[in-house]
Amino acid sequence: MLSLKGRRIQKQVEPVTGFSILDMALKHDVDWSFSCSRGTCCRCRCQVTEGMEHLSAPSDAELDALEPEELEEGFRLGCQAIIKTAGTIAAANKPYF
Ligand code: FES
Repeated sequence: MLSLKGRRIQKQVEPVTGFSILDMALKHDVDWSFSCSRGTCCRCRCQVTEGMEHLSAPSDAELDALEPEELEEGFRLGCQAIIKTAGTIAAANKPYF
């Protein structure tokens, strides 16, 4: 199960491998901030509190955009974090502003 927490809307959906966290949020009408969809604006930033092992490793864009401390605390860019394997994942959209 994939738990998505947008700005106001929260949904539990079936994760689909090959899709990003942002793709899943948009597909299910969760109000997730985004702009560029390519790892530069950081509006899709989110905190993954469960199931990081089911997501792709941080992309070069994420390594550039996020501080090492943020990565350690489970922050990812929703447009860059791709679901790799089925399982329980929880992510909350936490843009900087
Ligand atoms: S939408 Fe811009 S970094 Fe993800």
